[in-house]
Amino acid sequence: MLRAAIIGTGFYVPENVVTNDDLSQMMDTSDQWITERSGIKERRWMPVGDDNHTVITGSEMGARAARMAIEAARIHTRDIDQVIFATLNPDVNFPGNGVFIEELLELNTAGAMDIRNQCTGFVYGLAAADGFIRAGTARTVLVIGAEIQSTAMDKTTRGREISVLFGDGAGAAVVQAAEGDRGIIASVLHSQGKHARALWLEAPVGTLVERINAEMLAEGRHFPIMNGALVFKHATRRFCESIHEVLEKGGYKPEDIDLLVPHQANQRITDAVGQRMGLGPEKVFSNIAKYGNTTAATIPIALAEAELEGRLKRGDLVVTVAFGSGFTWGANLIRW
Ligand code: ACO
Repeated sequence: MLRAAIIGTGFYVPENVVTNDDLSQMMDTSDQWITERSGIKERRWMPVGDDNHTVITGSEMGARAARMAIEAARIHTRDIDQVIFATLNPDVNFPGNGVFIEELLELNTAGAMDIRNQCTGFVYGLAAADGFIRAGTARTVLVIGAEIQSTAMDKTTRGREISVLFGDGAGAAVVQAAEGDRGIIASVLHSQGKHARALWLEAPVGTLVERINAEMLAEGRHFPIMNGALVFKHATRRFCESIHEVLEKGGYKPEDIDLLVPHQANQRITDAVGQRMGLGPEKVFSNIAKYGNTTAATIPIALAEAELEGRLKRGDLVVTVAFGSGFTWGANLIRW
């Protein structure tokens, strides 16, 4: 049987650590509030140079994660015939970051596609890679999730509900056609657009002539907004639904899972999902305390760290699951 196997993972996070105490110097918040509500202790923010730009781009961060994944996979860059780049923070409005990866890694005109599905981007990316491989469109797909959030945050008390949760980082996986049991067994993907405005970044807005104006900037409409309580309620429910659905599709049960790798949104969401699924902490991966929510990058960073820590081994049954802005949600069932 032809399957899409994940043969190498990698990640990159900026060295610059921002603690909860650092944030409380910028806005009215506290280590206690952030820790109790989210489990986050620190996150990484990309340093900014004298020209007010980050010292490297989101694409370059993705390329660094990708180089590690390519090395782990023991392949050559010329083997890659398709790039899938998931981010809600592209370097520029267009083109998408995928083409910059083609240039940075010298991929010799490999296909490049971007996914704009926020926290669910990597789950959608793996499902797309699986489809490309099974259809014969590609043989080796590089899937990247990378986010520079720190330049988009309102770092004043006005934006504290969101800005304390997010961090910068990148993760990548090399997905290759393989015969046998190993690989992506099934994926499920969902959306519900009626909640689009519950977690979004409105401006620059495509329907407005010149896209943004002084009034919008003054009102902070170029910063993300979120209905935290609504997101929390839907996330917990949809995570569990997706896990059950993808397991059923593959013919497995929750007790068969060796490792659940959930999108790192909030430790309270992760704990609630683990508890409802009957999975102990040893079967649920978490690194949110170190990195916060890196949106499309949380799952590939977690997969790479889980491999390095020996928590993810060949033959394990793995479920990746995510929920986020859109709302969108979904899961992948993988034989590692
Ligand atoms: N520091 C201190 N106080 C804060 C902060 C902060 N950073 N942010 C908000 N507050 C205040 C609010 O202004 C509010 O004050 P008020 O009661 O005077 O109006 C109060 O804290 C709200 O406190 P709680 O009701 O206890 O907050 P809650 O338990 O709902 O937690 C949170 C808020 C953490 C945002 C929660 O709703 C949540 O985790 N939601 C999910 C959000 C999420 O994960 N988003 C990520 C993107 S989507 C995804 O990845 C799934």
